[in-house]
Amino acid sequence: MVDERARLEVRTLGEGRIDSPLAALLRTGRTTQHYVDESDRVLLDDTVSLVAARGVPVDELPGFEPGGPRRKIFFDPSKTRVGIVTCGGLCPGLNDVIRALVLELTNHYGVRRIFGFRNGYQGMTARYGRSVVDLDADVVAGINEYGGTILGTSRGNQDPDEIVDCLEQLSVNVLFVIGGDGSMRGALKIAEVVAERGRRIAVVGVPKTIDNDIPYIERSFGFQTAFAKATEAIRAAHVEATAFPNGIGLVQLMGRHSGFIACYAALANNDADYVLIPEVPFSLDGPGGFLAHLRARVVDRGHAMIVVAEGAGQELFDAASSLDASGNVRLQDFGRYLRHRIAEDFAAAGVEANLKYIDPSYTIRSVPANPYDSVYCIRLAHAAVHAAMAGRTEMVVGRWRGRFVHVPISLAISSRNLVDPDGDLWLSVLEATGQPPVFA
Ligand code: F6P
Repeated sequence: MVDERARLEVRTLGEGRIDSPLAALLRTGRTTQHYVDESDRVLLDDTVSLVAARGVPVDELPGFEPGGPRRKIFFDPSKTRVGIVTCGGLCPGLNDVIRALVLELTNHYGVRRIFGFRNGYQGMTARYGRSVVDLDADVVAGINEYGGTILGTSRGNQDPDEIVDCLEQLSVNVLFVIGGDGSMRGALKIAEVVAERGRRIAVVGVPKTIDNDIPYIERSFGFQTAFAKATEAIRAAHVEATAFPNGIGLVQLMGRHSGFIACYAALANNDADYVLIPEVPFSLDGPGGFLAHLRARVVDRGHAMIVVAEGAGQELFDAASSLDASGNVRLQDFGRYLRHRIAEDFAAAGVEANLKYIDPSYTIRSVPANPYDSVYCIRLAHAAVHAAMAGRTEMVVGRWRGRFVHVPISLAISSRNLVDPDGDLWLSVLEATGQPPVFA
């Protein structure tokens, strides 16, 4: 029998004895989950059955239920009524998901009645008086060409009892919720009320966020489109910064708690000299602070390009924070604050600065999905339909280690996907920008 482990070994010329110049960037990372333990290995097999086939005991291994069509389903398609709702902030690909849900349900399962609820959970709550849309293949034709959502959206949860009343009145058996963590909290409450009433209504989520901050979904749909669009702002700011003496480009991108958009957009252009994200605190002032470093660089190189995530530097403000309808903390405008502080700092030092500030804001999330995201949306929607028709509930479709999986909603909302300051993504950002690991 072939020794698979031997086949995977990479030849090395000898033991490393010289300190790496990159060692300082590795901070406290000690395992390959961070970066890089020489004795660790990335597993070849990613399913329990593949590991079991090697004769390795697998009983204790945790694993997700895989996504995909089942041989036996729970709901009789001819009697199944489905509801679809889109909630929370916009995200490229919402219409792709709606269309793919409708086409999969009608073309492959033969479901005949699909309702679209308008403006998020408001559309399922009587007092808003929103009409329900009948969705079929004709209604959803071509909608994927457009940004936004044909159903409309809203922030904030509504009374789950009223929502379940609405589902019962329309005899809905399956509800698809396309939304972020706040909406999934709402979906969990809906599923709980359904269970309390002893009803058999499946509640299945398709996680949505340009911030890529939902755990167990390696990349959320729309994220790639959003950061690709953000690169246009970085390109423009960089052109401006390099054209003027002591030019400084400053771009602020969305990303409340997670700096993925800032990191990916900055890496895509590879023109950023600094990336500031919420996960990595920094000081602006003092000899080791960001402002001193920036000024030295601009004097030395004649320009600098800075990318910030909107949630960065929030600890620098002491203003009391309020919450939006989704329960998110309303952020202070760090980009504008930084712009002001840079101008002040250069003026105080008597150094010329030509700063161009761009905040592309909603332009990165209101666009249609790019082809990669469109493909991903369709596949997530198919997985969601298979799961729901098989009778799964209180779950979202996820993507883990490159496979579609079923994730309990409670798990999907139990934590946030963050850029790991000890991980390889942030290391790539440090390598690409050349910024120091710490501004202190
Ligand atoms: O949650 C996604 C997101 O796009 C964040 O990046 C951003 O902070 C937020 O939504 C802004 O949304 P709104 O202005 O609609 O509340």
